[in-house]
Amino acid sequence: MSAHPLDHFYSPSQRVRYRDAMLRRYSCRAFSGVLDAPTLAALNYAAARVCLPGTRIVITDCTDALFFGVPLVGRIHGMKKCACIIASSRLENPRLLSGISGEAFILEAAAMNVGTCWVSGSYRRKQVQVELKDDEFVAAVTPLGMPLKSPGQVIRHRKPLSQICLSAPDQWPLWAYRAAEAVRIAPSAVNLQPWRLSYSQRALRLLGSRRDSLDLGIAMLHIDAAAGDGRRTWQWGEGKCIAHLLYEENT
Ligand SMILES: Cc1cc2nc3c(=O)[nH]c(=O)nc-3n(C[C@H](O)[C@H](O)[C@H](O)COP(=O)(O)O)c2cc1C
Repeated sequence: MSAHPLDHFYSPSQRVRYRDAMLRRYSCRAFSGVLDAPTLAALNYAAARVCLPGTRIVITDCTDALFFGVPLVGRIHGMKKCACIIASSRLENPRLLSGISGEAFILEAAAMNVGTCWVSGSYRRKQVQVELKDDEFVAAVTPLGMPLKSPGQVIRHRKPLSQICLSAPDQWPLWAYRAAEAVRIAPSAVNLQPWRLSYSQRALRLLGSRRDSLDLGIAMLHIDAAAGDGRRTWQWGEGKCIAHLLYEENT
């Protein structure tokens, strides 16, 4: 299997920003006004910087008609821009890699207080105003805008760590415990949280039943951001183990 593309891709300062932003990110579905020019420029800069090879993010104009309503959560509205997360179908795991790039971008936006929401289902494909190459497809979109209401305290409905970790995470080294907590708060489609974690022999393993999934890419980015700046090596796994991070603190 190919080398893992996350190895040394994001800089220590990016990872610090993502650790902080993941505590504030939530799915924003109501926006007000337009993004000012400096914020839009900063988002375009982030989009150009955060994408793993074979994926790209394009910011385009959009209207409320891009999205349709979902029971319980309602329709996304009020924004004038969206970002399209695009991948080449020639990649081995295009959705997983889009999950990594897309979440890095979403956390960059959260660090600028820009509201976002991963959307892979409830949008009209024909309304997406982006030119694709023959081998490309849109893996997901996110609205971009200033949240209509100040978020207050972010409420997360999440499984407890005991349900996503295969052994007691309070027995794990601190870096692995922090990485597990970072996965726990990650967003996932329909909030299914389709991940499990195990730790042994200095490696944190990310387990899931479908390798090429946006959700597992998002979880991987959260692990990458939460682990410290020690010696780190990502490797692909086999079977249910999607990938693992081998980590040693610097001495
Ligand atoms: C890959 C992915 C796809 C999603 N697709 C949609 C969608 O189609 N429509 C929608 O309203 N929300 C969508 N969401 C948002 C999730 O419902 C939301 O992340 C989850 O309920 C957790 O809430 P939070 O993001 O506020 O923490 C998606 C999230 C992810 C990660």
